[in-house]
Amino acid sequence: MTASLIDGAALARSLRAQVAERAAALTARGRPPGLAVILVGEDAASAVYVRNKVKDCEESGIRSVLQRLPAQTPEADLLARIQALNVDPSIHGILVQLPLPAHIDTRRVIETISPDKDVDGFHVASAGALMTGQPGFLPCTPYGVMRLLEHAGARLAGAEAVVVGRSNIVGKPQALLLLQADATVTICHSRSRDLAAHTRRADVLIAAVGRARMITGDMIKPGAIVIDVGMNRDETGKLCGDVDFDSAREVASAITPVPGGVGPMTRAMLLVNTLEAAERKR
Ligand code: GUN
Repeated sequence: MTASLIDGAALARSLRAQVAERAAALTARGRPPGLAVILVGEDAASAVYVRNKVKDCEESGIRSVLQRLPAQTPEADLLARIQALNVDPSIHGILVQLPLPAHIDTRRVIETISPDKDVDGFHVASAGALMTGQPGFLPCTPYGVMRLLEHAGARLAGAEAVVVGRSNIVGKPQALLLLQADATVTICHSRSRDLAAHTRRADVLIAAVGRARMITGDMIKPGAIVIDVGMNRDETGKLCGDVDFDSAREVASAITPVPGGVGPMTRAMLLVNTLEAAERKR
């Protein structure tokens, strides 16, 4: 079997078009959706991510406000800026780009963002809402993965879903979302014994570990749907996922490519969350 490709770039494009329409409707009523993005320091990768987020906003009719702060910014200054944005009625979403410089307490920063503007879904209140099935913002990557699975026609109820990776940003919320969709969920991690024995049982396999091509075709159940959250560079500097694409696509029924799978969806879901934040405030 050669797996069909799940085209995240195309799905993200259609989501952005829908966001643009709804954003235009809000703007026409004099309430343009607004996203504040804070970047502290000079991390090169973060600067690229932030530039992309600002560009995505521009193209979707979301007003973005970028605050670039020096690496030595005192934590208290950063917290004060967030508090000001929390009460700014023109701002509906607040995103502080991570990682932050070592002298700043990341958890304290995230918890200072008002939960109703937490479009990254990183606040403990957002995590708690997800855990207990209440409305709140979902972290963009696992939210995007759920949209990809829906798009691929995955039947999740009763399915064996295996998530490889247990981060707060992807693995854990991903597992909760799959559970909410009535899948039987297993979370694997670096201490899991016999990883392949778990992954081979997965009807739906989500790889979110950050190790180049570690999930190979022999670890995949024939016909499985495989979602690759990884974004790594291999020895030659080539961008690749956590899944060994060439061997996996001979076994899976559907698979996301890297690039062009989960990445564009993560970006699109930030726009969706920001728009929803603005619509809720209407
Ligand atoms: N750094 C890497 N990914 C992310 C993200 O999704 N949100 C934020 N705030 N920082 C990041």
